[in-house]
Formats: sequence, C-alpha cells, structure tokens
Amino acid sequence: MATVVEVEGLAYRYPEGGVAVDGFSFAVAEGERVVLLGANGSGKTTLLKLLNGLLFAGDGTYRYAGEVVDRHRLRGADFRRRFRSEVGLLFQDPEAMLFNPTVFDELAFGPRQLGLADVEQRVVRWARAAGVEPLLDRPPVRLSGGEKKRVALAALLVLEPRLLLLDEPTAGLDPRSTGWLIDLLQGLEATVITTTHNLSLASELGERTLLVGEDHRLLADGPLEPLLADHDRLLAANLLHTHRHRHDGEVHRHYHLHDWD
Ligand SMILES: Nc1ncnc2c1ncn2[C@@H]1O[C@H](COP(=O)(O)OP(=O)(O)OP(=O)(O)O)[C@@H](O)[C@H]1O
Ligand SMILES: [Mg+2]
Repeated sequence: MATVVEVEGLAYRYPEGGVAVDGFSFAVAEGERVVLLGANGSGKTTLLKLLNGLLFAGDGTYRYAGEVVDRHRLRGADFRRRFRSEVGLLFQDPEAMLFNPTVFDELAFGPRQLGLADVEQRVVRWARAAGVEPLLDRPPVRLSGGEKKRVALAALLVLEPRLLLLDEPTAGLDPRSTGWLIDLLQGLEATVITTTHNLSLASELGERTLLVGEDHRLLADGPLEPLLADHDRLLAANLLHTHRHRHDGEVHRHYHLHDWD
C-alpha cells in the first residue's frame, strides 16, 4: 500500500506565537481514514495547513506520495499543479473558501483553473453528491452555515482529490447533515484526515486516531476504542472533564465527554 503522507519530527511555531505543532511523526497509507483528535488550540488546524502546503514546517520533514513538500518544491510548476489538484483542505471556516458569484462557479473554479475538459459534468455530479444541486444558481455568501460547508466540500470533491483534509467538518451541522457527511466520506476512495474535538463522532470519521495533547505533541496513534478507556490520556488531552460529587457521604468522581458540536 502506497504511503500518501509521511511526517518526521514535524514542528511549527507561529512567528508571533508559540509552538503549535511539536515534533509529529506518523505515516498515512493510501485509503486510510485518520481522525485528528485534540482540544481547542492543540494544533489540529496548524497540522492540516502544513499538510496542505499553506504553512511550512520550521523543523522536520513532510513527504507527500514520497516527495518532500517545502516552499522550494512548491515553486516548481509541475509539482505545484499536481499537489494542488490532488490535495484538498476544507477550512474550519468554509466562508474563507467561497468567493465566486454562484455555487456553480464555485464548484467549477478548480476544474477551470486546471483546464479540465469535463467541467460541467463534474460540477453536476458532485453538486448532486453534496446535495447542493438546487443551490447551483445562488450566491454562496448568502447560504446558511451548513449549506456553505456542503458547497465548500463539493468544491474540493470536484477535483477528486487523493488526499482530503477536513477541518472540523461536522461543526455546526445538524444530525441529518452529519449523517450525510459520514456516509459521503465512507463512500470516497480518497485518503482522509479529519479533525474533531468530538469524542463521540471520532469513531464514525475514521478507523485510526491521532490524539494531540495540549502540549502540541502526539499523545497516541491507533484505534479509538482503547483510547476511550484511557481516561488519563484523554484527561491529559483535555478531552474529558471530571467533577466530584457527594453521594451517601462518599465522594465520587465522574468523567464526562466533552460534546460541543
Ligand atoms: N495565526 C496565528 N498566529 C499565532 N498563533 C496562532 C495562529 N493560529 C493559531 N495559533 C496558535 O497555535 C496553537 C494551535 O492552534 P490551532 O488553530 O492549530 O489549534 P486547533 O487544534 O485547530 O484548535 P481549535 O479546536 O480551536 O480549532 C494555538 O495555541 C493557537 O493560539
Ligand atoms: Mg482548528
């Protein structure tokens, strides 16, 4: 199985801030669905931006399909074109991705940029898959939050990416849209890395979990099930909160899953 993503000692520090990603090492094989689980501020968005070539690591290396991705490499027109057409990032705030006059143009933008021949068929196919076909003539900026998310995702899917990076795709979606998204992701051939801080959705979004700690380091890498029983680790990642209460004169400790979406 081909390796799509390989990072070694990857680290990033914002110029005006502190360390956001501290020494991540992991590899993702073709077709894997990985969930990046971590509390607010742990570094999930930063990692996805590194994997999408929007930010470049201060330390360590990132290989996409065996090729080192850095500022220099992305200046090469051939590699840049291939990388940009194969890797798609759904922003945490999809509004940042929508700038075309209609939903149709939004979906057609990438294929037109890349000079693909079958633009209209692609747009209709993926608009249908994303349930936004009735919105094709509407201005994207005047859609609801959930609709914007579907449009932004469809605008990535039209390029049939090999690596899909999804930043909190379920945040702000109602239960029906969440179910639709999970079904859609299960039907894709792409390698998918999805961030969430929602423990109860993590198992639906992928089979493998990378747990990011509040210290911006990788705390765990593996199936979710054993992690759910590892309260110490989840507490360290600030994904559980505990409170004590008194019952029959005894103090009990309760664990709760954070469930913000
Ligand atoms: N543009 C920026 N400039 C400076 N520091 C930043 C910037 N963006 C993020 N940070 C800092 O980097 C760290 C990681 O942020 P990041 O956005 O990657 O976290 P996250 O895990 O995606 O959080 P959330 O769950 O809230 O989306 C945080 O400490 C944050 O304050
Ligand atoms: Mg984030």
